[in-house]
Amino acid sequence: MEQLNGKAQSIVWITGASSGIGFALVKRYLQAGWRVIASARSEGELADLVKQDSHLSFVAFDMVDKEQIEPIRDTLSQLVPHLDCVILNAGTCEYLDLEDEKTDWQMMERVMSVNYFGLVNSVDVCLPLLKRASQPLLVGVSSQAVQAAFPRAEAYGASKAAIRYFLSSLRMDLNADGVDVTCVLPGFVDTPLTRKNTFDMPFLMSSDEAAKRIDQALQGRPYEFAFPKRLSALLWLGRHLPKWWLGKFAPNKHDNS
Ligand SMILES: NC(=O)c1ccc[n+]([C@@H]2O[C@H](COP(=O)([O-])OP(=O)(O)OC[C@H]3O[C@@H](n4cnc5c(N)ncnc54)[C@H](OP(=O)(O)O)[C@@H]3O)[C@@H](O)[C@H]2O)c1
Repeated sequence: MEQLNGKAQSIVWITGASSGIGFALVKRYLQAGWRVIASARSEGELADLVKQDSHLSFVAFDMVDKEQIEPIRDTLSQLVPHLDCVILNAGTCEYLDLEDEKTDWQMMERVMSVNYFGLVNSVDVCLPLLKRASQPLLVGVSSQAVQAAFPRAEAYGASKAAIRYFLSSLRMDLNADGVDVTCVLPGFVDTPLTRKNTFDMPFLMSSDEAAKRIDQALQGRPYEFAFPKRLSALLWLGRHLPKWWLGKFAPNKHDNS
């Protein structure tokens, strides 16, 4: 067991760590003295940090590739004896374009494959190592997009809703083993993923602020953590006043009333 200042050093595996929220989480956990294993397909923004900090290891992982599940599990097992916490944060976003004459319906499968099946594959990788920890916590990153419908988000929203249900069911099945499961629902965070958006993003925050809020919330091991609360309130209205929500964000072009 690795030691830090005489205490056992906690160990976290973070996916989607090469940019955005994942990269900010890596920095935060390192500052707090954790041993961090960071994954993504490429090192990206992690490159300098990996060279500088011996408590950080990068393990390249394309979570869509099922052939990588066993080798990555072996690599993690060689690096650490167990995982106290796993944050499955990696994800992508593409929008459906029905105005395009050749709508790319394959995109639905692509997004589901990365966001949902990629997360499932990642759970397959880490579960044995999580179960070896004394108080393990498994975290998956969904989105506030699941709280009310957004235009063009058919693929993204469905994949994040699938993650939310998957985690809530997994929580039931892992309870007996003492593995806590948390689903995180971020609002709009300024990252490479959202910089492509052309619409207004209410209550947008930095990735460092998002990582701070996630880290603080995870200490209480909630079943679910949605933030910021102001966005949750707006989406609650959208869910309970669906006609108002539809008219506000997707007005009927032929309705002149
Ligand atoms: N930003 C927001 O407003 C927001 C809101 C709600 C939820 N979220 C969720 O938060 C998570 C992080 O998003 P972000 O905004 O920080 O986006 P980001 O900066 O684009 O980060 C996405 C991360 O996922 C990794 N990734 C993508 N495809 C992968 C694959 N096939 N295998 C392994 N890793 C892969 C990327 O690394 P590589 O490309 O190097 O693989 C990158 O590290 C996502 O799940 C996103 O849906 C974000």
